[in-house]
Amino acid sequence: MTDIPNLVTVSAPTSEDFRTVVADRVAAGATGDTVVRQPLWRLPDAVAASLRDSIALPAGAGWRVLRGALDDLPTPGPTPLRWSEVDAAGTARYDVALALLATVLGQPFGWAHQQAGRLVHNILPSPESANVQVGASSSVPLEWHTEDAFHPERADFLILACVRNPDEIGTRLAAVRDLGLSTQDIEVLMRPTLAITPDDSYGEWRTPITAIGMPTVWQRTDSLCVRYDPSYSTPVRDDQEFATVYGELAAGFDQCGFEVPLSPGDVVIVDNDVMVHGRVAFSARYDGTDRWLKRVLVRAPRERHPNESTEHGYHQRLVIPNFKGN
Ligand SMILES: [Fe+2]
Repeated sequence: MTDIPNLVTVSAPTSEDFRTVVADRVAAGATGDTVVRQPLWRLPDAVAASLRDSIALPAGAGWRVLRGALDDLPTPGPTPLRWSEVDAAGTARYDVALALLATVLGQPFGWAHQQAGRLVHNILPSPESANVQVGASSSVPLEWHTEDAFHPERADFLILACVRNPDEIGTRLAAVRDLGLSTQDIEVLMRPTLAITPDDSYGEWRTPITAIGMPTVWQRTDSLCVRYDPSYSTPVRDDQEFATVYGELAAGFDQCGFEVPLSPGDVVIVDNDVMVHGRVAFSARYDGTDRWLKRVLVRAPRERHPNESTEHGYHQRLVIPNFKGN
């Protein structure tokens, strides 16, 4: 197992209490989709409280890895070829555990037109997506991006959990503040120059919709923030100065970014406003042993650019279970 610098370990008795809760909920019939909808299945307050310090990102930290919460789970079976072919019963403990962990951080949600509206997504290589800029790709690097950058209600936090990663394929992270942008570059990148559309993992959004220019960076009280997905971005106006500064961002993220080599049971929590993420290219085998991550999106609304309140989000609808927080 590779050492990870920004790591926190959930140890006993919290880890044991959590695993007991997860096992009980699964035995009662809970799934990743239903466990946060049923009040009786939610995390007991004491367990949520003892997990909170491990899960919450310290001020100024854009990410952390949590280890220990998902230990000793049953083997989930071979990695399937598509998210739609996952054996839900085989990964019920992963799904329930992640959905419950997410409630400690905020409000877990899904998208109606992504992975059938499920709360816990499966990220694994699919042959038909090998070269596409989506999580199911493999033979191309997944370029730096903000998760669901196209939408004003995108996740505040992104949770990725490792089910299997025998080749130690790195998840890449980079913080916008580490780019060392000049004041002038920041002012240029604040211009609402690019329209960002939903990525190819979404269903039918490609009806004609007015393009809305979105700033690439904005300033939150405590941090410079970013909204970035060049693979799905189109200029809404001609701005050569912007194009020059924007065109240097990918190389900048390459320089200041780093890889997190997740091992089975590791959970990485990412602040989706201050960090971008990606993945290196790899050779998928499609033989049941490929890298397999679980993903949960979490809303914990903080300050965002005021213009976002007027955006249509390409009419993509969030699926939000009736959950009021732990
Ligand atoms: Fe992503």
